[in-house]
Amino acid sequence: MAGRLADKVAIVTGAGRGIGEATARRMAAEGAALVIAERDATTGAAVARALTAAGSRALFVETDVADPASVEAMAARAVSTFGRVDVLVANAGINVFHEPLDTSDAEWRRCFSVDLDGVWHSARAVLPGMRARRAGSIVAIASTHSFSIIPGCFPYPVAKHGLLGLVRALGIQYAAEGIRVNAIAPGYIETQIALDYWAGFPDPEAERRRAADLHPPRRLGRPDEVAMTAVFLASDEAPFINAACITIDGGRSVLYHD
Ligand SMILES: NC(=O)c1ccc[n+]([C@@H]2O[C@H](COP(=O)([O-])OP(=O)(O)OC[C@H]3O[C@@H](n4cnc5c(N)ncnc54)[C@H](O)[C@@H]3O)[C@@H](O)[C@H]2O)c1
Repeated sequence: MAGRLADKVAIVTGAGRGIGEATARRMAAEGAALVIAERDATTGAAVARALTAAGSRALFVETDVADPASVEAMAARAVSTFGRVDVLVANAGINVFHEPLDTSDAEWRRCFSVDLDGVWHSARAVLPGMRARRAGSIVAIASTHSFSIIPGCFPYPVAKHGLLGLVRALGIQYAAEGIRVNAIAPGYIETQIALDYWAGFPDPEAERRRAADLHPPRRLGRPDEVAMTAVFLASDEAPFINAACITIDGGRSVLYHD
């Protein structure tokens, strides 16, 4: 299939909905074969079915990124089905928001097991094949929480800060072997994870409006706006972009508040 990712094989974790689903759809439209690595069997299978129906090559593999054995098995299925893995989008993530001293050990672990360990498990599963072929692009979905803090959102930003460190460490380590590792830091993107967060406020619509107004364009981001950047970083159009982080927040993180 023609396209900017023609003949590439891409794994997208957490591709059953939200940013991951949008990324999988964009990558398939650009000619990639897709592995939908998702914990939710219903949404993951539905996305793979939709891509196949649209003429793309797509495989759903039920995957829990927190479980290294599950991730290794998924990566092996990707290789046995499509021959290799050119692109990994480590997108699966969860919000774990608490006041620091109210955070139980179990909640700390739940956050880190997906938001940081999950990315490491996924990268570790595809890196040997990329090194052997001396080519590959890994894109991790970080967050503006990777470099700024909102009180009461602990420990999510701690894991997302660590994710940026992981991206830099791997990007530097394997750069001379033709592998690029980059991050995307979205601001508020209107997905289910955001809707669930606003639902916790007395007036969810007012909270949604407040979130939109925090961004200079006075709106929230869309999943496809992250997906387009993931396509760019995964493609051969970004050959010298490595160990970098592209922020997608309409300028919010640059805005000075007086
Ligand atoms: N929406 C935002 O405003 C926003 C902003 C910054 C960063 N992000 C990041 O973007 C990524 C995607 O977020 P989203 O908004 O699309 O969220 P979402 O909740 O809509 O989608 C996340 C997907 O990941 C899957 N998932 C969760 N845990 C998993 C696991 N252990 N193994 C496999 N799959 C798992 C979920 O089932 C779901 O399909 C996350 O890493 C999130 O932290 C989101």
